[in-house]
Amino acid sequence: MRRPPPPTLLLLLLPLLAGTQEAKAPPACGRPRKLSRMVGGRDALEREWPWQASIQRDGSHFCGGSLLSPRWVLTAAHCFSNTSDTAPYRVLLGARQLLRPGPHAVYARVRRVESNPLYRGMASSADVALVELEAPVTFSDHILPVCLPDPSVSFAPGMSCWVTGWGSPSEQDRLPSPRTLQKLSVPLIDTPKCNLLYGTGAEPDSQPKAIQDDMLCAGFAEGKKDACKGDSGGPLVCRVDQSWVQAGVISWGEGCARPNRPGVYIRVTSHHRWIRRIIPELQFQGRAGGRRRDPRASGPPGTRPHAAPRLLSLEPLPQ
Ligand code: ARG
Repeated sequence: MRRPPPPTLLLLLLPLLAGTQEAKAPPACGRPRKLSRMVGGRDALEREWPWQASIQRDGSHFCGGSLLSPRWVLTAAHCFSNTSDTAPYRVLLGARQLLRPGPHAVYARVRRVESNPLYRGMASSADVALVELEAPVTFSDHILPVCLPDPSVSFAPGMSCWVTGWGSPSEQDRLPSPRTLQKLSVPLIDTPKCNLLYGTGAEPDSQPKAIQDDMLCAGFAEGKKDACKGDSGGPLVCRVDQSWVQAGVISWGEGCARPNRPGVYIRVTSHHRWIRRIIPELQFQGRAGGRRRDPRASGPPGTRPHAAPRLLSLEPLPQ
């Protein structure tokens, strides 16, 4: 007579299975599973910038954004002048071509928009807003969050970063059909130099626009390549170790891609406290001492301090 297998074996296996579930880390930010026009940009590849969002009103794109978590998108405050009625808004995620979003894309409804209360109008400080989605989106190869830096991360002038968006390919034109996401590599420019650039050739009796402490310039003194209208709110991301970390939010510029008028971005690190107040559960990427800890070098589970940030270094390791 055959007996069913003893249930004890299964019982012994259960805690093991549960254990693997528990040890599963939250999905990493800033890591597209794919490894690999704004003015002068190139077509982005499928799955290259999976946090890129298109913010739309009554079905038309007007600003970019970046996905931070299943429920939250970071954008620019100037994208939402009136945020009381969220019904006409949708956030498109997982798309590359605006006119052919494809089967991996989702349109999320907006529950609320939190604009930074310090924002005072175009080309002023604190041009950042957080958009809460009505329902959490499911992450996939096409929809993943970007990393946000904590204030210990500094982005060095000269560092090459990337800006992405569906904005205009020039001051006059719109992106041609099917409106493919554009990517552009831009070097960071230090603030004194950026102020000098904005001061050159400024209208004689007008005050040149000032680059505030929470702003970051990126682009080229010779112009030609830049973000433009419709890119606003989208991310400026820099590669830090193996992850993409968002350094800036596309905010303003004088025209687009003009000589001596680089793009101006809002520094994400300057608004860390405000973002944390609105999304307390969000993790930020830090850097401590510049040296990355080898996770394999840590002790047995439980001996690692829980609050330890994930360490990232911006400079080559001292070795
Ligand atoms: N503020 C514009 C927008 O609403 C463009 C922002 C970027 N401009 C620039 N020249 N980098 O889309």
